[in-house]
Amino acid sequence: MEKAWDIKIRLLHWAIALTATFQQLSSLYMSDPGTQYLFPYHRILGAVAALVLLFFWLYSYAIYDLKVLFPWGGDGRRAVVREGLGLLRGRLPASGRGIGLSGFVHGLGLLALSGCAITGMIMFSMIPPGHVGPPADGIAFTRYTLQHKFFGQMLWLYWCGHVAFALVHQIAGDRVFGAIFGFARRRE
Ligand code: HEM
Ligand code: HEM
Repeated sequence: MEKAWDIKIRLLHWAIALTATFQQLSSLYMSDPGTQYLFPYHRILGAVAALVLLFFWLYSYAIYDLKVLFPWGGDGRRAVVREGLGLLRGRLPASGRGIGLSGFVHGLGLLALSGCAITGMIMFSMIPPGHVGPPADGIAFTRYTLQHKFFGQMLWLYWCGHVAFALVHQIAGDRVFGAIFGFARRRE
């Protein structure tokens, strides 16, 4: 069985996967006339997602190796290129925590999510409590919605690739779902 991830990463991943995926799905319907009630939920859960993401970054920085997410050293770059070329020949990149292509793509996904969180929190602060309708500075608000949309599209791209690769690994016999979503005690 695939070695389980550190329990704090597993819990943070549960929180990120649930809140970020809710944000993406709610965004599909919250502008439609019948389902506009979703927007306040998008706003509140967006703030929760941003907070969870902040914890994820702090934990990655403090305890976890940021080089896994951003393999900027020579060895890291070579590992990413080697696994990228391997992928072109049909070889799956290694799963689990380690320096390589998967870790780097996770880093890019976290950047897309951070873009959504930052622009989202700016918009959050532009809407006064209890306010309905567009905020006073409509032009600035629209500019942030456009930036938010850009990061949102990057996040969808990441999400589709991330889930697809997880499924391919799982089908190939590499139990990645149990390793990140399971609650079994970690074996060293
Ligand atoms: C937008 C939402 C998501 C984000 C931002 C995200 C981000 C991440 C990150 C950063 C890691 C690596 C953890 C680390 O290096 O510290 C990871 C691993 C993983 N995630 Fe997600 N995730 C999301 C949603 C999902 C969903 C919906 C699924 C499954 C349906 C999933 C399945 C997995 C699996 C299986 C791994 C382990 C991969 C491996 O062993 O290499 N994730 N995710
Ligand atoms: C990490 C948290 C968040 C994520 C992952 C997220 C994700 C998304 C996504 C994927 C879209 C759809 C973009 C598109 O149309 O292509 C969207 C739209 C939107 N989000 Fe968020 N969001 C977050 C937080 C927030 C917050 C806190 C607000 C506060 C007001 C907000 C306000 C909006 C608005 C107004 C739109 C509609 C933009 C438009 O269609 O013009 N979001 N969000």
